[in-house]
Amino acid sequence: MDNPYVLTHKTPTHKDYIDTSDFDQSEILDMVKVSTVVRDYIKSGGTLDTLYHKNLAMLFEQKSTRTRVSFEVGMEQLGGHALNLAPGAIQLGAHETIGDTAEVLSRMCDIIMARVDRHESILELAARSTVPVINGMSDYNHPTQELGDIITIFDHLPKDKPWNQVKVVFAGDCTQVCASLMMITTKMGMNFIQYGPPAKWLSDDFLKIGRANNQMYGGSVHVTDNPAYLEGADFIYTDVWYGLYDKETPKEVYMREFYPKYQVNDEMLALTGNPNVKFMHCLPANRNEEVTDSVLDGPHSVTWDEAENRLTAQRGLLLYFSGKAQEALDLIKAKEEK
Ligand code: CP
Repeated sequence: MDNPYVLTHKTPTHKDYIDTSDFDQSEILDMVKVSTVVRDYIKSGGTLDTLYHKNLAMLFEQKSTRTRVSFEVGMEQLGGHALNLAPGAIQLGAHETIGDTAEVLSRMCDIIMARVDRHESILELAARSTVPVINGMSDYNHPTQELGDIITIFDHLPKDKPWNQVKVVFAGDCTQVCASLMMITTKMGMNFIQYGPPAKWLSDDFLKIGRANNQMYGGSVHVTDNPAYLEGADFIYTDVWYGLYDKETPKEVYMREFYPKYQVNDEMLALTGNPNVKFMHCLPANRNEEVTDSVLDGPHSVTWDEAENRLTAQRGLLLYFSGKAQEALDLIKAKEEK
């Protein structure tokens, strides 16, 4: 039986957490393990100061609620400190390049998390940093969301169904959250479907990643506009239809493409034929556009657990990429055995 206190990888195989495609399934499961053991320990009143005197620099080129708060709270809960370097607050952008910023932050901080407009920026940041860099979302992917989401899926697995038989449907646009959900579910050998208009399907490059995961771990990946594929879904996930990175296209254009067919509403949930289907959303939501109030606030929604699991995941990532995950697990085991 798997030992909950022992990691397969005591230290990360990559310095940075930029893309889950850089890690194999066993390493992602290590991240899930440290995240969930620490969560359960802290929720039962335990304390940890494994990151005492460590500093996290948080760079934001865009707004954030969940990513910012979860990293800041997570760092504080682990005994460390987080600096919120919001747009306009530092020289980045106006007077200093991201590479030079990386060099300086590496001399002062122990870990960097950044949300960037362009994926190239996070790659440059990682290349020029000597400390670990965590991708807090780019126009390509959202890997910290991925870890929180797979934890949420594990928390809400259907009874009597192995996790590699789970069916996850993303309804809507091929946002970076859609791509990320595809990458993490296929890495776990699950069955992933994007249900959306053909013009908004995941690119062939993304689908290649999913198919390579299928070869390695099982499962499947499909893109479709056929609602018959909703049948048997265990999870329905959606994200906003507009305003994320494409600031040019008017809202009306997106609404015409997606509404009403791809709105997650009670009728869509009924099409799954699964009375226990779960609904997920990365948030923030445009209520009554991509999802109705009745679904977001209804009995199928695990959205608020999903939001909380951003904190679960960030603590795990901070420990894992600081090289302190096994130390934290050893400490928790020792305290629990007392
Ligand atoms: N889901 C997500 O990343 O939320 P924020 O934009 O609020 O961080």
